[in-house]
Amino acid sequence: MRDRIIEIIGTHGKNQGALIPVLKAVQRMNPRQYIPQEASQLVARIMGLRESEVYEVVSFYGEFSETPRAEHVIKICDSTVCRVNHHRELVDILEHTLGIRVGEASRDGKFFLEYSPCFGACDVAPALRIDDKVYGNLDRDKLEAILEAYRR
Ligand code: FES
Repeated sequence: MRDRIIEIIGTHGKNQGALIPVLKAVQRMNPRQYIPQEASQLVARIMGLRESEVYEVVSFYGEFSETPRAEHVIKICDSTVCRVNHHRELVDILEHTLGIRVGEASRDGKFFLEYSPCFGACDVAPALRIDDKVYGNLDRDKLEAILEAYRR
């Protein structure tokens, strides 16, 4: 892990502004999409920051998780426009299809479900994000096809 983190910091630099991109890359390198405490400590040490500065960023931003998730993180928008555009149906389809509840990982380790505040895709509500990709205007058929594509 240390060598990979050194490599990531080498790419992004050590200034304060590089912290978020560095943490994103550190989280992505983990197959369960999270930042373990040991990784935060290494980032702080190598970038010359206080550990508390790094922990603050990790715990403040909804992008980051300190606990293991899964290969793909599904973020279901839970803000007003998606709520009034039947986001509850999306949640039901996802929970039923994946056999999990929001806040859980599927048994095969492929998907983790969580809520997210608005990420600016209101014009295509109801919307969700899988990793960094946004999907909108979703209905059952579209959602099942998307999940199938990630399973391959
Ligand atoms: S309210 Fe859902 S993306 Fe904006």
